[in-house]
Amino acid sequence: MVEQPSTPKDFEIYYQLRYEVLRKPWGHPVGSEIDETDSTSIHAFIKADDKAIACARLHFVDDTTAQIRYMAVHPDYQGKGLGKLVISYLEDIAKKNNRLEVILHARENAVDFYKNCGYIVNEKSYLLWGKIQHFLMQKHLRI
Ligand SMILES: CC(C)(COP(=O)(O)OP(=O)(O)OC[C@H]1O[C@@H](n2cnc3c(N)ncnc32)[C@H](O)[C@@H]1OP(=O)(O)O)[C@@H](O)C(=O)NCCC(=O)NCCS
Repeated sequence: MVEQPSTPKDFEIYYQLRYEVLRKPWGHPVGSEIDETDSTSIHAFIKADDKAIACARLHFVDDTTAQIRYMAVHPDYQGKGLGKLVISYLEDIAKKNNRLEVILHARENAVDFYKNCGYIVNEKSYLLWGKIQHFLMQKHLRI
């Protein structure tokens, strides 16, 4: 069910979901959903009817740590366990690549979701666009 985008069409719908869920509601332009680390990251998504409905991205910070970013589930599909599936898929990839922990910066509204996935809050981190408080969260992976 969770897969990695591979075709240009896959990447188009994958980035579209990131834009729709994480950028558009705050008035940010198309293109702001992509960053310079994307080309070296591992991307995961779930498709339904040729649309992306859940997605996130993993990149390796160093030899021990991986980071998840851009976790997004389409509003019509939230609360159905899809976010948790994507997180678990990316954690498995981190484990297979010998990382010991995953970190992420959670939006305040998503902190309890990540706690449910086994993450703990380390500290308050940055305030995105002067509006969205983030919290640095961490999970040790059981190898
Ligand atoms: C936060 C988000 C990724 C969660 O994805 P989801 O698919 O709705 O979550 P799931 O259905 O997989 O939830 C997994 C578990 O977490 C719980 N959970 C999910 N969101 C929660 C929340 N906001 N508060 C408390 N618990 C929550 C669910 O009840 C579920 O519990 P269960 O396993 O005991 O049944 C999704 O709601 C979303 O995309 N939100 C908007 C974008 C966003 O804030 N992204 C995070 C950026 S850091």
